[in-house]
Formats: sequence, C-alpha cells, structure tokens
Amino acid sequence: EKGGYPSFMEKEINDQPQAVGDTLLGRSDVEGRLTLDELRIDPEELKAINKIMVLACGTSAYAGQVAKYAIEHWCRIPVEVELSHEFRYRDPIVDNHTLIVAISQSGETMDTLMAVRYAKEQGAKVLAICNTNGSTIPRESDAVLYTHAGPEIAVASTKAFLAQITAAYLLGLYLAQLRGDKFQGEIKDLLTDLAKVPAKIQQVLDNSGQIKELAELMADTKSVLFLGRHVGFPVAMEGALKLKELAYIHAEGFAAGELKHGPIALIEEGQPVFVVVPSPRGRDSLHAKVVSNIQEIRARGAKTIVIAEEGDDAVKAYAEHVFYVPETPPLLAPLLTTVPLQIFACALATAKGYDVDQPRNLAKSVTVE
Ligand code: M6R
Repeated sequence: EKGGYPSFMEKEINDQPQAVGDTLLGRSDVEGRLTLDELRIDPEELKAINKIMVLACGTSAYAGQVAKYAIEHWCRIPVEVELSHEFRYRDPIVDNHTLIVAISQSGETMDTLMAVRYAKEQGAKVLAICNTNGSTIPRESDAVLYTHAGPEIAVASTKAFLAQITAAYLLGLYLAQLRGDKFQGEIKDLLTDLAKVPAKIQQVLDNSGQIKELAELMADTKSVLFLGRHVGFPVAMEGALKLKELAYIHAEGFAAGELKHGPIALIEEGQPVFVVVPSPRGRDSLHAKVVSNIQEIRARGAKTIVIAEEGDDAVKAYAEHVFYVPETPPLLAPLLTTVPLQIFACALATAKGYDVDQPRNLAKSVTVE
C-alpha cells in the first residue's frame, strides 16, 4: 500500500501531482468558468460577504496564509488567517457577512471544530476545505469544498497541503467570478496555469536527487532557518515545520523582510538558511529585495540554500546550493516551492534513522483541545 516507497510520506510526496490534479478535476467548464455548485451556498450570499476568516492549525493554517495573498489579490475581500485555538478564546469580530473558511485535512481537529461552532453561533457562514469525506468539520459546516488528495497516512502533512492550497485558489477564483466578469479572462488563464501545475510538480520530483544528497550531508545539523516573502513566507514556515516534526531539528521560518528586525542576529558562520525566492517576474522589487537578503546573510557566514524559479540566474552568485522549480504565476508558486522542502525534511529524517511516518509525540489528528 506504500506503492513501492519505503514510507507513506515518500509515497504521499510523490502522489502530489495527482492530488493537485484530482482537486482541480471537474471544477471548471470548457469556457474556463468555475463550477462550484457543490458548495451549496447561495451565490447571492457569497457576493454579500465583506470579510473572510480562515481558521486552521499547523500546516493547514499555512495553506490559509497562502490563500490570503491570492484571495485578497483576486477578490479584493479582506482575508484574515487565524489559528483556530487563538480565534476561539479572544473576542473575534464575526457576523453574517463573514465567511469562515475552515481548513482541515482530517476534518476532526478539535481546535478547528470548536472555532467553527463558535463562529456559527455568531452568525457566520462556514465553508470547510477538507480531505476527509463525511468527517465532523464538513458535517457541521454550511458548505464544503473537498480536497481530493486521497487518504493521507503519514503524520506530517504533504499532499493534503498542496491540495488545500489548490482548493483555496479555486475558491478565490470562484469568488472573483461571482463578483463580476472583470477578471474572467484572467481567471481562465489562471485555470490554464493551474492545470499545468501537476506536470511541473512531477518535474520537481524527478529532479530531487540533489536535494536528497544535500539532506544526507546535513544530518548532523542542529538548526536550520527558512526565509520567504509574500507567498514564500508561509512556504518557509511550512518548510521549518516539516523539519521540526520529522527530524527533530530546531527550525524556524521568517518573513525575509523581518531579518533586520531581529533574526539576522542568529546568523553566524555555517548557519544553514533556506531562502524561497520570489519569481523575478513577480511584483515590484520583491525579487531584488530577497536577493539582497541572501547577500546580507551570506556576508555574515550563512550557508545559503536557495529555491528559485528556473532561469533566475541572479541568485546563483550568492547561493551555496540552488534548486530550481519550473515557472508559474507568482501566486501559484507555493505548489512548486514547497516540494523541495518536504523532500529535504523527509530525506534528512530518514538519514538520521527516524520513522518519518510516525514522528515522536505527534498524532495524525488532534482530537483534543
Ligand atoms: O487535520 P488538520 O488539517 O486539521 O490538522 C492540522 C494540523 O494538526 C496538522 O496540519 C499538523 O500540523 C501536521 N502534523 C503538519 O504536518
């Protein structure tokens, strides 16, 4: 059942082209219009929402952070992302014009379930993005958009994460479509780009030899930092979480822009730092800013490991190692840039002799608050 792989995690990392492909399947028509009738929320009600709050924990919350960048850009609706357990115990401002998007692979995470119940009591509409048919969170939500990643067995989430991001993009594009035809052409183009993503993930998987070798060489590392900006920020956080969970290594993700506000003090000779570099075709001067961050930390002795877009030669001069991922629109990049980080964590934990499917102290679904 591991499909010939030594662990479920490796199988699930390799399942990702299919997980994303299946999540896209049947959700748009030939004219490039989203057809999410399965949501069963009155489109008029969806048009009237003036705020989205994503509630989730762990990896699912990072999917929510990626969604924020995309949905705000496409729909011009403010999106807040909050950890379910923090949301529930403050005094959040939620009303019947708020759409709650609860993201959960298992659909059983108690923190998220309690947050959903609370939000419903306040009159909010709740839409679940979930990978498990008929689980509690979708049953208690007003609507559900299932991710079709297939069962995820390894405790560390991989394919469910990419499927959650994919589903969130579909939701964002659907809301943009409901809000007017202004972006119809753009939506169609983005759907075309999304359809190309599974083959691009496959390319990343096919070229993963080098990152596995690097992971093996780094088996004795005590601390790894991850930097990203824009959608690369949650990707950096996710890369750090994978390394903590699987390899029990101290790992921290930062927004690259935050470096000089503190974290740069951590940089000393030999400190490994992963940097998720935004596309040079992206917004404003973001790429240049991150390249200058790489220069800054390198000058202080960091060992820089860079994830960049194919053709981005500017990073080469400042990177110990560069792993390239295929070109895609900048907002969709997390579907590609996350993959080398998952592979790295899995390979490093394996090199240390750890059980990557069942890391210590963790459960696949956290059914207590
Ligand atoms: O089933 P959920 O998506 O609600 O689970 C949320 C987190 O517990 C989960 O993502 C956790 O962080 C994973 N172990 C991450 O790999």
